[in-house]
Order: sequence, then C-alpha cells, then structure tokens
Amino acid sequence: IRVFVPSDSAARSVGADAVAEAISREADTRGANVAITRTGSRGLYWLEPLVEVEIAGERVGYGPVAPGDVADLFKVGFLTGGEHALCTGPVANIPFLEKQTRITFARCGVTDPLDLADYEAHGGLTGLKAAAELAPESIVEAVTASGLRGRGGAGFPTGIKWKTVLGAKAEQKYICCNADEGDSGTYADRMILESDPFGLIEGMIIAGMAVGATEGFVYIRSEYPQAISTMRAAIHAMEGKGLLGANILESGRDFHLTVRRGAGSYICGEESAMLDSLEGKRGMVRAKPPIPAIAGLFGQPTVVNNVLSLAAVPDILGQGPDAYAALGTGRSRGTQAFQLAGDIKRGGLVETAFGVTLRELIEEYGGGTRSGRKVRAVQVGGPLGAYIPASGLDVEMDYEALASAGAMLGHGGIVVFNDTVDMARQAEFAMEFCAEESCGKCTPCRVGAVRGAETVAKIRAGDNVEKNLKLLDDLCEVMVDGSLCAMGGLTPMPVRSAMQHFPEDFRRAETGAK
Ligand code: NAI
Ligand code: SF4
Repeated sequence: IRVFVPSDSAARSVGADAVAEAISREADTRGANVAITRTGSRGLYWLEPLVEVEIAGERVGYGPVAPGDVADLFKVGFLTGGEHALCTGPVANIPFLEKQTRITFARCGVTDPLDLADYEAHGGLTGLKAAAELAPESIVEAVTASGLRGRGGAGFPTGIKWKTVLGAKAEQKYICCNADEGDSGTYADRMILESDPFGLIEGMIIAGMAVGATEGFVYIRSEYPQAISTMRAAIHAMEGKGLLGANILESGRDFHLTVRRGAGSYICGEESAMLDSLEGKRGMVRAKPPIPAIAGLFGQPTVVNNVLSLAAVPDILGQGPDAYAALGTGRSRGTQAFQLAGDIKRGGLVETAFGVTLRELIEEYGGGTRSGRKVRAVQVGGPLGAYIPASGLDVEMDYEALASAGAMLGHGGIVVFNDTVDMARQAEFAMEFCAEESCGKCTPCRVGAVRGAETVAKIRAGDNVEKNLKLLDDLCEVMVDGSLCAMGGLTPMPVRSAMQHFPEDFRRAETGAK
C-alpha cells in the first residue's frame, strides 16, 4: 500500500518526519505492507502534515496528523479507507484544491521531487522535448504568445525580455533564476524548489535554448537550506541522465547549471544587486540602463527571471501557448500563485487564473480569519505592497486592476490583518524595514527611510501630528520620485495606503483611542 508523506520544509517544521517514522514503525509492528513516498507539499498548509493513502487509484488524505495519531489511524484501518476524524476524503476533492487550476504547481505534493521517472510520468520533459525541435525564435514566439509576464512582481512580458537577449550579440549569455524570495508571506518559489525542482530546471534549459545561453545560475536565499540541497540533488540527477550538460537530448545544445546561495539580504532580490552578488561582490543596485538583457552577469546579455516565470515555461511549450493564454483576464494571462498568510483559517497556496477577487481568495479559499475576528486590512504584494481595507476586497486580482486600486500584485503574497492591527505601527514598520534593507546607494531611500521611521514614531507619540503627517507625505513623494530602485520607490506604498485608508490610527495619541 502506497502512503505519501510530504518532505517540504514547512511540513517538516510541523512534524512530517516524525509522522513518517511513526507510520513506518507502526506498519512494521503490525506487519503491514506499506511503501512510504516522501513527496513535496500540495501547499494546503493548514492540513500539514497531510498524509495521503492510495486507495483504488485515488489518494485519500488525513491531516493534520501528529505522530500520536498514527496508532489510532492504523486501528481504524486508514490504509483501506477506514473512517477517522482526520480524514479529508480524496485529496483532489478538497474544495481548496478542487477549485484551483494547477499548472505550475500540478506536481507539487504529488511526486517525489527527486525521482525523474515520477517526473516524466506526470508530464515532465514534454516542454523540453518540444523546445528541442524548435528554432530559438519559435520558442521565444511561443512564450510571447502565451502572454506570460514576470512573476517576481514587475510583470514585464517574459517573451519580450527573451527576445532582447536572443537579439543581443555575445560569446556568452546567461540564464539567472531569481530565487531570493524575500517578501513577507510568500513561499511559492520555495515550494517549487523543494517540491518540483525538475520543472524549474526544465524551464531554465528551455530559456537557454531560446536565447542561446549555455550557462545558468539559480540564486537561492540562505534561509532556504532545503531548497538549496534539493536543487543541487536535482541538477545532479538530470546531469546523470544527459538532460543537463553537453548536447542535451542530442539537440546539439549545451546547458550547465549551478546553485548559488544568497547571504541574507533582501535587496539581493533586486535583479542587478543579485547579479553583483553572483559576481562575488556586495549586492548593490546598479543604475539602469543598461538592462541585464543587454549587459547583465559579467557584462553579458542575461535573462533574469523569477522561479515562477521559468517554472511556467515547460507547460507553455508542452501544451502550446494558447492553452495558457486562454486563462486569465485582460493583459494578465495564465495563472498566478496566490499565497495566503497572516490571520487566515486555511493558509496555503492557491494557483488560479488571474481575475479571482481578493474576497474569494480570503473568504472562500482561506475561510476567513483563523482568530474569528474581522478582517481590517490585507497587504498584497509583500512588505512594499499596499494595505487594502476590508471595503476593497472585491478588487480583481490582476496587474492592471490592482494598479488602478493603488496597489500591486508583486509576487502574490497576501497577508491578512484583523481588527486589532495598528496601521500607524505598520507604516512605521514599512519605513524601518526599508531602513534596515536599503543598499545605501541613493539618498532618498538610505536617509529617507530613517527619517520616515522617525516621523511615524513622532506621529504615533502625538507630537505635532498635523505637521508631521504633511512631512511624511512629502517624504514619500521624494522617495517615489528620487529612488534608484523599487525598494525606496515602493516603500511609500504601504505607508500611504495606511494613511489613506486608516487615518484614525495616526490620530490615536491625539484622540486617546485604543
Ligand atoms: P522593472 O519594471 O524595472 O523591470 C522588470 C523587468 O523587466 C526587469 O527584469 C528588467 O530588466 C526587465 N526589462 C525592462 N525593460 C526591458 C526591455 N526593454 N527588454 C528586456 N527586459 C526589460 O522592475 P524591477 O525593479 O525589476 O522589479 C520591481 C518589482 O519587484 C516590484 O514591482 C515588486 O513587485 C517586485 N519585488 C519582488 C520581490 C520578491 O521577493 N519576489 C521583493 C521585492 C520586490
Ligand atoms: Fe539602494 Fe534603496 Fe536606492 Fe534601491 S532605492 S538603490 S535599495 S538605496
């Protein structure tokens, strides 16, 4: 009997390893014939550790399972579908998952992340095989036709970026995958790295074939040690099968891939700072132009893409760009990975077509707050994203609709705050975060963030509130207009949205309100 237990680091953090051991021990004691496969996670994090049992070709779930539940599960005969309070029924029918459109995350939690045969059995390598038959221009055209836009946050059309690199003349070009996932409440990149590393590698090889790059790097944040080791093992496995290295699939094309570990700086997620870091320098933002597509790593034309952009590519090539482009709304095509976090009942990964509303994500998928309190604000798009008030939850989640609402999609992080949040404190935190993470290259950000944090502190203390609110707004304007990169340029977004939607929180010291 096949049993699946996740090995992703989030599932392990809540005891998945101990659960796997307990199942193995109990099966031995009872003489039950159990084969445990360690998969990645499906991203239904409130159910982790989610144990799945294959019964009549279907996976039936039990979760969240604690090691102490295991003997009980055996007692009720869970291996053959015995009734138990933790049983979720067939995992594919859990409403949270059933309603999703899983493309990039289709294999997450289903396959053994390091088993190539399992990968192929679940649709792996079809995109690479299709790309190997195509001219570089045709691969770029397919990605352009799919409408895929950069999933790191900026939403730049991936096909156009690749076309720029393809058209640049150089001896050496590079593919750099940005896996420095630093936004609060985000974990989608980590899920791919740990749960479906071959999918990302396949996307990178296809990118290499498309633009004529023979070398690639995956830049992973140091806080993701398991992602780093899983990626390294996956690269090794693919090299062993001739899928990475020289003459891939006898296409005459080479691609070599290396994993590099970041060093704990948020700003190294900014593409040019990441390139500096990859070159062995301190990660500092470079002035643009030139853009990396023209002069990137070691001054050569470089594709810099986020994990999710690259991981979407195999399906686009394998299934054809039209299927991907058919999903979504307006200029936001395909699916987006929304990551539910904060005060939310069902925290986890929702991959669905653009156009879903924030309310659907929080109320239908997420089940509302975990605490049972009212939602007061939702921060979308990481620590530099806007706070959306409860009255704004009907916004459609796509690049343009969010921009019109004064917000941004960013990397898809959604952090829910209940009615106990102090939004002036959140504004102060945004400035403190920027002061802490600023690379220091430009004055509006380096000095502005420190002055900003001080000014919010004064407002919170009731010191010259009117004057300081005006000063804060002016400072935000300078940071937006004068910062060299998105760090200083976007920090005003959470600050101003808090001031606009929650003005009463900035007057608490004056009014004496709690
Ligand atoms: P950007 O708009 O300057 O550039 C977007 C991308 O398009 C870059 O890769 C740029 O090199 C490329 N590009 C621009 N013009 C091009 C052309 N003509 N040809 C080819 N490529 C071209 O935005 P930036 O500064 O790279 O990213 C800002 C975004 O990053 C923010 O909107 C935010 O959402 C996101 N972000 C993501 C984080 C994460 O953890 N994933 C953390 C912080 C911010
Ligand atoms: Fe560095 Fe901040 Fe300027 Fe960006 S905005 S270049 S992080 S100082």
